[in-house]
Amino acid sequence: MYSKFYVIIVFIFSCIYYHANAKANFDMVFTNCTCFSEDPEEMLSRLKCGLSKSVKRPSFNIELQFQKPVIKFFVNMRIVLPRRQGADFTLFNLSGIDGCSLLSNKNQIAFIQLGRKHMDRFSNVPKRCPWPKDVSYYIRGFRADMAAMPAFNFESDMNLWFDLVVNHHKLIRGFIQSKVQRRRSHKNAAGED
Ligand SMILES: *[C@@H]1O[C@H](CO)[C@@H](O)[C@H](O)[C@H]1NC(C)=O
Ligand SMILES: *[C@@H]1O[C@H](CO)[C@@H](O)[C@H](O)[C@H]1NC(C)=O
Repeated sequence: MYSKFYVIIVFIFSCIYYHANAKANFDMVFTNCTCFSEDPEEMLSRLKCGLSKSVKRPSFNIELQFQKPVIKFFVNMRIVLPRRQGADFTLFNLSGIDGCSLLSNKNQIAFIQLGRKHMDRFSNVPKRCPWPKDVSYYIRGFRADMAAMPAFNFESDMNLWFDLVVNHHKLIRGFIQSKVQRRRSHKNAAGED
């Protein structure tokens, strides 16, 4: 009876230990960040999406500025893992997320909340609506928190599409491509910035 219990406990801890280590050995490297805009009301005064120059760990940058305040907006977001064979795997596909409650962290979806909090470290995106005009907003040098992403303990490409919808227009359509890959060596892991 006790020994059975003991075996189960050891098994659970081994699993946790194995997964913790596995995750620590993966990086997310960004390979493309492209934005498009549909702006008939001339809301945007700047939109720039691209990759950072860092060779070791490429990241993505997004810069934007509005010439009219953004009072209300919606977000669509989907993450797809492309597969070499068979159908691509859609990790999630959400549309019509209320952007203002997302900013103020009132969104009820736990992993969206987590992502929002993590992004604060790389971004000056405001905490509530409206977004004042003529302020330069950015997401810069974003690094994924691999430990918080239990789905990724395997190598995979990952494509994220997002839309920022204002007044029924997809004001910004963004595409961010990344690769989850095993760290090459201990030397690389120690040398990361
Ligand atoms: C990045 O993605 C965009 C949109 O899918 C595509 O048009 C462009 O060719 C890609 N750039 C590179 C360098 O792969
Ligand atoms: C995501 O959902 C939208 C509508 O909610 C749908 O039109 C689209 O085809 C879906 N995309 C994927 C990749 O599942």
